Amino acid sequence: MKIAIGCDHGGFRLKNAIKEYLAGKNIEVEDFGTNNAQSVNYPEYAIKVSKSVISKECDLGILCCGTGIGMSIAANKFKGIRAAVVGDTFSAKATREHNNTNILCLGERVTGEGLALDIVDTWINAEFQGGRHSERLALVEKIEQGEF
Ligand code: RB5
Repeated sequence: MKIAIGCDHGGFRLKNAIKEYLAGKNIEVEDFGTNNAQSVNYPEYAIKVSKSVISKECDLGILCCGTGIGMSIAANKFKGIRAAVVGDTFSAKATREHNNTNILCLGERVTGEGLALDIVDTWINAEFQGGRHSERLALVEKIEQGEF
C-alpha cells in the first residue's frame, strides 16, 4: 500500500508524525509537503494528493491542515475523490466501510496526535463493505456526473 500525504502550515507537525508512524509500519509514503510553518495555501496540497490518488499512483491519501475542513472541501471537488474530516475512531472505520473514502482529512488544531494516529490506523485497516453502500456511492457518482 502506498499513501500520499500532504498538509499546509497548520498541519505540518501532524503530517510529520503520521509520516513517521507509517514508516514504522513499513507503509510506503509519498510526501507532497509542505514541510515548514511558513504560511501556504492548503488547496495546493489537496490538489497534489488528490491527483496522486485519482491517477492510482497512490492507493489512499491523508491531508492535514488546522481543522481538516479546508482540505476536505478542496479534495472533494475532484471527481472520484471521497474525502472526509474525521475526529474519532468510530467514524474512521465507518467512513471506509460505508463511504469508501480515499482521502482522510485531519485537523492538527483540533485532534491530538495520539488520537490522530489511532484514527489513521483504524482508517487504513478498515475495508469497504460494498453491497447497499455501493448503490449509495453510485448515486453520489451520478451527482458528480451532473445527472441531477
Ligand atoms: C490555516 O490558518 C487554516 O485556515 C487551515 O490550516 C485550515 O484549517 C483550513 O481549513
